Amino acid sequence: MRIAVIGSGYVGLVSATCFAEIGHEVISVDNNAAKIAMLERGEVPIHEQFLPGLLDRHRGRRLKFSQSVAEAVEKADAVFICVGTPPSATGEADLSFVEAVASEIASALRGGKVIVEKSTVPVRTCEWLRKSLLLNGAPLGSFSVASNPEFLREGTAVTDFLYPDRIVVGADDELSRTTLQKIYEPLTTGSYYQRESFIPAPEAAPLKARIIITNARSAELIKHAANAFLAMKISFVNTVANIAECVGADITEVCAGVGSDSRIGPRFLNAGIGYGGSCFPKDVQAFQAVANHCGYDFGLLTEVMRINAEQRRVFLKKVRSALWTLRGKKLAALGLAFKGDTDDVRESPAIEIIEALLAEGAKVRAYDPAAIGKTREISELNGLEYAADAYDAMTGADALLILTEWKEFASLDLNRVQKLLKYPIVIDGRNLYERNQMTDVGLIYYSIGRSVAAPKHLTAAAQEPETEVVLPIGGLELPSGARSAA
Ligand code: UGA
Repeated sequence: MRIAVIGSGYVGLVSATCFAEIGHEVISVDNNAAKIAMLERGEVPIHEQFLPGLLDRHRGRRLKFSQSVAEAVEKADAVFICVGTPPSATGEADLSFVEAVASEIASALRGGKVIVEKSTVPVRTCEWLRKSLLLNGAPLGSFSVASNPEFLREGTAVTDFLYPDRIVVGADDELSRTTLQKIYEPLTTGSYYQRESFIPAPEAAPLKARIIITNARSAELIKHAANAFLAMKISFVNTVANIAECVGADITEVCAGVGSDSRIGPRFLNAGIGYGGSCFPKDVQAFQAVANHCGYDFGLLTEVMRINAEQRRVFLKKVRSALWTLRGKKLAALGLAFKGDTDDVRESPAIEIIEALLAEGAKVRAYDPAAIGKTREISELNGLEYAADAYDAMTGADALLILTEWKEFASLDLNRVQKLLKYPIVIDGRNLYERNQMTDVGLIYYSIGRSVAAPKHLTAAAQEPETEVVLPIGGLELPSGARSAA
């Protein structure tokens, strides 16, 4: 089929490339001329596994790039809208980019085309889209509108697209239903998986993708509910982690036990410094705004957000309890991205924590395998130093902080770590190690939801102080004057 994908961000670019991979003719559109020129030269603007290889395979063949919505729409059977839906000041999704694209699409509509909303949007956006297309001159009967939410995680977006848990199609008429079914046929019949050069399947991937067909409103709601539920799972686990720590239990053991109940499942049960990224924080807020519009106070989501912010403070408290005062202390920070396998630093818990530490007067030297470039653009991080690799970051540091779950941070040479650090202190916000791995090499190990682990000769150095001193939390909730004093 012929497909136009409007917006070449994370979702648009991955979707366009994967549509080409499963056999469609695709035009990927963006109004950013520099980005289109870059893509045409074969450069990939985001860090995403398998994307460079797939772009190479299809660029100039089944996958073309353009700045013109009209050109792409004229040539397409289906038009996917993949533009940003950022949060507005009230927490609601700002749909002005979707509306602007709708008016451009409207003027190019001829014949029966399917306009598909793929960006994460509040329920009923499809109805607004339909209305906007008509008001902007699209002839009645020249289009139908559908919802096809994406469930792509950054870092594994290509395999998430090609081996989905499910494909959700929200269609209110026959044309959109049959068009979307046809588009995804190579995945739902499994014919794509028979080909020779396909992208390797993740473990336990089904050989035929499951498709769920609903009406448009249900599909829109599925996306918001799924992201809010996952965010809730993380906040729940982080709260249990804090309790586990308090009572001397081990959150990894607790989660292994809880997650082995098939009704709960083992995934998204990793305790840490809270969720971040461009999706969960924004979608939880936007879903709450949807509930408000229905006259319902979704207080559960307020708690999810509160716990998430609190988790950054829990980590900062650990740093203070390990190091006493922070002014002038040298800290090595491993990780800047909001999670591993991505260069995305939007709403990154690592960045929020570093900002708070800098505001308290600590000196931070950071390393991330992919996100240093994007971090340099953040002006609030004045004074942050960047290291060439993980070991360079920790040389002479008073403590090592692990902030992002990159695989390479889970396999550090711990003997080398112990030798390079000034004090033998590791504070791990992602629970990447067993406690005894650290103590065996003489390191004191603080993690989330597990008690502090220390080698025998350093047990006293790792003890929690008896009375808790409440110190200002820079960068997160600064008491007045704290930042200027820092
Ligand atoms: C998320 C969803 O997982 C995708 O299904 C969805 O399509 C996407 O949002 C979206 O709406 O576009 P993403 O934001 O890329 O994907 O990242 P996740 O892998 O979900 O991680 C989100 C955050 O939660 C990260 O900061 C991660 O470190 C944290 N996390 C995740 C935990 O703290 N614990 C866990 O067990 C899992």
